[in-house]
Amino acid sequence: MTDRESTGEFEGYGGRYVPEPLQEPLDQLAAAYDDVASTDEFQADFRDHLESFAGRPTPLYHAKNLSERYGAEIYLKREDLLHGGAHKINNCLGQALLAKRAGRDRLIAETGAGQHGVATAMVGALLGLETEIYMGKKDAQRQAMNVFRMRLMGAEVNEVTRGGEGLADAVDAALEDFAANVDDTHYLVGSVVGPDPFPRMVRDFQSVIGEEAREQFQNLERTGDFPDAAVACVGGGSNAIGLFHAFRDVRKTSETSSAAHQNAKRSEDDPVEFYGAEGGGEGAESSRHAAPLAKGQDDTIHGMKTRVIDDDVEVHSVSAGLDYPGVGPEHAMFHAVGRCEYTGITDEEALAAFRELSETEGIIPALESSHAIARAIQLAEEGEHETILVNLSGRGDKDMETAAEKFEL
Ligand SMILES: Cc1ncc(COP(=O)(O)O)c(C=O)c1O
Repeated sequence: MTDRESTGEFEGYGGRYVPEPLQEPLDQLAAAYDDVASTDEFQADFRDHLESFAGRPTPLYHAKNLSERYGAEIYLKREDLLHGGAHKINNCLGQALLAKRAGRDRLIAETGAGQHGVATAMVGALLGLETEIYMGKKDAQRQAMNVFRMRLMGAEVNEVTRGGEGLADAVDAALEDFAANVDDTHYLVGSVVGPDPFPRMVRDFQSVIGEEAREQFQNLERTGDFPDAAVACVGGGSNAIGLFHAFRDVRKTSETSSAAHQNAKRSEDDPVEFYGAEGGGEGAESSRHAAPLAKGQDDTIHGMKTRVIDDDVEVHSVSAGLDYPGVGPEHAMFHAVGRCEYTGITDEEALAAFRELSETEGIIPALESSHAIARAIQLAEEGEHETILVNLSGRGDKDMETAAEKFEL
């Protein structure tokens, strides 16, 4: 980590663009994070909860049927098997444990697909913290079952009716609440977005995904030491950063690079290549998408400098969790320096992948994760990577109603 990153700056992206009253509570949070989170005691408590409450480690699964069909070895990191059905619980446990130690007795959060809201409600109940969730009305309607789950666990759910009634509007409402209640409230941000310290804090809590996957991959007998490619969907970008981080600075060695790889265009000693699948909606060139990296511009949103979709574009994705106009600043940096390639996967492509994984592997992915599956299939078809590691960030149970409207079975 460079000095600039440790202050939340990612090569000019990130930072803290918030009104004055929020500066101090964010300073306090950053200090609490820097002082507490790296201690052995906190880490032991966090790891214990990840194991006993969330269900870690999650398996690394070789998707043999899909691999056979497309001619590349495709591995799925099964975050869909976690308690609550998605990777969101990793971050929620980390932040809630930190908030409790900092003496906060109230959690607030924004949610799009509802998975982060559900995970926040779970940790709120677990640790006895009052919990309030902000959710755009449009999202609350398409994820009604998740709203019910949150309420069942004692959280209050506020349906936000301003703007497009989506995730960005829920973030605005949560930020306002935070500004008014900084003394007793922790804003449990759900992705690697927002003002410092959230992007680096959420990344660190989600890095367990890549750390585990790296070790599991190295224990496989039939592959090289690292996968050729790592693929994840990108909403705010937390499951993607969580997967990528452990592979960011590694290089595959010539002894362990696979034989087939020698025929591919790329040379040995390559880094693991990163691919981000954004919500391409009706196409990244259309006027309805959620792909600020594939097609967007630098701007400031929700307290950070990052990439944002163009003004004349309506934010849209079939998956509520990718339906966000901005993206985490570390991804904006990866994009700017060419470390990761970002592609808008259309609604149609994601729905096809949703169905294909269900049929070939017996695994129903979340619509968000289906974007990553679609991108992995494209890469396998292109034939440049022998081993592809995909983060299956969540399960599709929450998407049954949307799917039932799209498919006649
Ligand atoms: C299953 C799943 N995957 C991915 C995302 C997108 O979030 P992020 O990009 O922060 O991983 C969400 C968000 O709700 C989600 O529920």
